[in-house]
Amino acid sequence: MSRWNSLNRREFISTALGTVGSFSVLPPCHRLTSELGEPQRRYAPFQFPKEFIWGAATAAYQIEGAWAEDGKGESIWDRFSHTTGRVKGAATGDVACDSYHRYKEDVALLKALNLTSYRFSISWPRIQPDGAGASNPKGLDYYKRLADALLEAKIRPLATLYHWDLPQKLEEAGGWPNRDLAARFSDYVDLTVRALGDRITHWCLFNEPFAFTFLGYGRGTHAPARTNFADFMRATHVVNIAQGQAFRAIKAINSKLQVGTAFSMSSCEPATKSDADRQAADRAHAFANVWFVHPALRGEYPKAFPGDNPLELMGVKSGDLDLCRAPLDFLGINYYRRQLISAIPPGAGEGAIGVQGSDAHEGLLTDFAWEVWPDSFHDLVFRISREYKGTPLEITENGCSYLDCPDEYGRIPDERRVQFMRGYLQALSSAMLHGANVRAYHHWSLLDNFEWAEGYTQRFGLTYVDFRTQKRTIKDSGHWYSKLASTGSLM
Ligand code: NOJ
Repeated sequence: MSRWNSLNRREFISTALGTVGSFSVLPPCHRLTSELGEPQRRYAPFQFPKEFIWGAATAAYQIEGAWAEDGKGESIWDRFSHTTGRVKGAATGDVACDSYHRYKEDVALLKALNLTSYRFSISWPRIQPDGAGASNPKGLDYYKRLADALLEAKIRPLATLYHWDLPQKLEEAGGWPNRDLAARFSDYVDLTVRALGDRITHWCLFNEPFAFTFLGYGRGTHAPARTNFADFMRATHVVNIAQGQAFRAIKAINSKLQVGTAFSMSSCEPATKSDADRQAADRAHAFANVWFVHPALRGEYPKAFPGDNPLELMGVKSGDLDLCRAPLDFLGINYYRRQLISAIPPGAGEGAIGVQGSDAHEGLLTDFAWEVWPDSFHDLVFRISREYKGTPLEITENGCSYLDCPDEYGRIPDERRVQFMRGYLQALSSAMLHGANVRAYHHWSLLDNFEWAEGYTQRFGLTYVDFRTQKRTIKDSGHWYSKLASTGSLM
């Protein structure tokens, strides 16, 4: 089995990245080396368009808590975090940021930050505790109240229908590798959107389909902790069918509702200039970045394997690719870091694509040891906008973990996050100047929260959360971002 060793335990973000082939069509840029030692392109000051949407993102399991309240069923993440040894520090999302009870306070934070969009997720087991059948009115009511509070504050609700918390009962029925899940998901989406579609007009079907299928069924470092390459590949196909089917279910309710998915993406850069590495980087891009985009928009799988894609192993039947088709209204991009890609001899399992990815360490590292390299964000956004011309982009996540905590005055001076945001937003603005049609940016995250298998050891928030008291304090980066959101002017 080959590795993608670099993925190690923080794997989940990405894996693959883009090819240098595309760089030849980029406008020329200048590399600088700053005093901090990180080479960067030079970016000009930028005025974001008036209608640009500024937001922040969260996910149900990571912030809501109330894990067994008001009729909510058990999810695979409840089961995973309640199993000894799965999550650092034996942490769970049982309470998390207690946002289920404090959502009004969190909407007030968004307002204080001058944001106009909130990307949150709906917990499937709150709506259908066992993953099938009638909806739980208390679960739906919670999201109605949240959406109403947002609308009242003039903040657009952007709801993700699946951010990894599958009802445990559906995992017991086989989980995402089970083809029936496509219909189960579509039913859940249908009843949720029927109930909430009057208030929520913008929807993400999935969050990071590559991450949750790979880490949940291939690597086993995330729920439901399965480690089988064939299950992983089958899960990707079922999710692609589910995406198409749920897209049609929403459009049948109201064709005006805007529907996309938030895809994990990384710029996949060949480790060397060799043809083999360039081709490997293309395969990595196909697999980790657009494996769920291409079937929806083009009705086929992108070529990710050196030989034919393993359609039989994936359980692809005749007519399936028509089911996967979904002319998404927007593509959501979750972007964190680039990867360097080398070619390796194809092996078994994951190794079949003949790719090894590794983290780059040329730039500074965040406290999660992810490299800060804004140029790669420019390149990825530019590439996607070119490859899928015509479909608007929303940045549905981008962020960094730094562990800064309150000083003696209670202020959180997280200057490194400000630098990160400035760099990544400059890179984004440059992609827009070069023609990328990007209409929104959501920072991950509104709040410090439960970082999956890392528990509470990472802090991605614009707002500091004291998990002993649940007190929220806007960090310096939040104040910086609020100014940007009100003026749109990036210096
Ligand atoms: C990816 C995921 O969507 C989100 O849940 C996670 O917390 C962040 N990125 C940071 O790792």
